Amino acid sequence: MGMISTEAWVLPSNTRRPGNAELIREAFTFPDITPNEVLAKPLYGCMEGNMLHALQRDPVDICQERSEDSVVLGNAGVVVVERIGSAVTNVTEGETCIVFGNGIWDEQGYPVKILGYDAPSSMGVLARSMKLHERQLIRVPVESEYSLEQWAAFSLRYISAWANWRVAYACWRSQMQGVAPADTVVCAWGGGVSFAQLALAKRLGCRVMMACSHPERLELLQQEGIEAIDRRQFHDDDFEDKFLKTIAEKTDGKGVSIFIDNIGTPVHRVTLKALARQGVVTTCGWKLGMRTHIARAIECLNRHIHVHTHYARYQEGLDAVQFGEEYVWLPPHPEHIWSWNEIPTMFREYAAGNIASYFPIFSVNA
Ligand SMILES: NC(=O)c1ccc[n+]([C@@H]2O[C@H](COP(=O)([O-])OP(=O)(O)OC[C@H]3O[C@@H](n4cnc5c(N)ncnc54)[C@H](OP(=O)(O)O)[C@@H]3O)[C@@H](O)[C@H]2O)c1
Repeated sequence: MGMISTEAWVLPSNTRRPGNAELIREAFTFPDITPNEVLAKPLYGCMEGNMLHALQRDPVDICQERSEDSVVLGNAGVVVVERIGSAVTNVTEGETCIVFGNGIWDEQGYPVKILGYDAPSSMGVLARSMKLHERQLIRVPVESEYSLEQWAAFSLRYISAWANWRVAYACWRSQMQGVAPADTVVCAWGGGVSFAQLALAKRLGCRVMMACSHPERLELLQQEGIEAIDRRQFHDDDFEDKFLKTIAEKTDGKGVSIFIDNIGTPVHRVTLKALARQGVVTTCGWKLGMRTHIARAIECLNRHIHVHTHYARYQEGLDAVQFGEEYVWLPPHPEHIWSWNEIPTMFREYAAGNIASYFPIFSVNA
């Protein structure tokens, strides 16, 4: 089999560059496509939490886990199909597609490993040229009203939100069939995934609110019609009491029906306390820590349901994209696009918390 060489920003293994990783721009070589694969040219990518986790080698060193010398990250973006394998039926050459980052799936189609992250031999969009399995691509809707940059941002966070919401809402309904969406209170903290999920819940008629700290993000919540709870008003010593008081006031003492918590350890206890009876706590992320402690008796007595999901199966990706186009459920078009040369700077700024946007977009070949 022939080999393909391309320019990429790669994550080097700990053996090559010990300690804190930095992306290196170099030639990256990979085997030519197999019958079910596609050679594609990434146009735009979106900076994601997992890309930073990979660079920080935390919670896992993915180069070590994959036994690879370098890994090309980037599991959110939009690409143009350049060449298809002999057995590909899903897409054709020249089509523009959204990256669907399910790297290795189980027999039900749910992801076990993620493309451009922990799936061995997979590569992400931080390369001028890449290859993917045909089921890692979803066509951008024909004559879409929205920009490719918006679809690049949609690719991972919106599809994750769609798949997590599907389960969380079904769980809520399993115990609360008689409650109208308008009386279902959905609250969240977290970033782009939580924002996307609230925007979805709103389109389905639920009452939505989000705790947030950044002026630009607070403004975005307002534009989307999401009730903002400015978390700068709470301080470490009175955070729990004041936050719970705010939730009690906003919900007539009932609490939150569905709480989306993608933050984890430091806030999980408050999340559970903010839940209504029969409430659902739902997550696909652990931005500030993956370990949590629960008092099982209290969770049982309150009939709380705990939902955990990880990205999505292919049909969920297709459904999310179709819904997004039809119901204008997409992230805003970005004001700033990071260039190919600026990618390491974007990583540094993201790590330092200096990027206000929930969806930082970078260009690869656009
Ligand atoms: N498993 C999956 O399928 C999947 C998919 C996508 C993402 N994820 C994971 O989900 C997590 C969230 O990702 P994301 O992309 O939605 O978010 P993100 O863009 O990484 O943003 C995190 C947000 O958390 C907020 N925040 C920080 N500290 C906080 C605190 N102490 N309390 C409350 N809010 C706090 C910040 O907003 P404010 O300061 O404005 O409040 C920040 O914007 C990450 O760990 C990511 O890797 C998992």
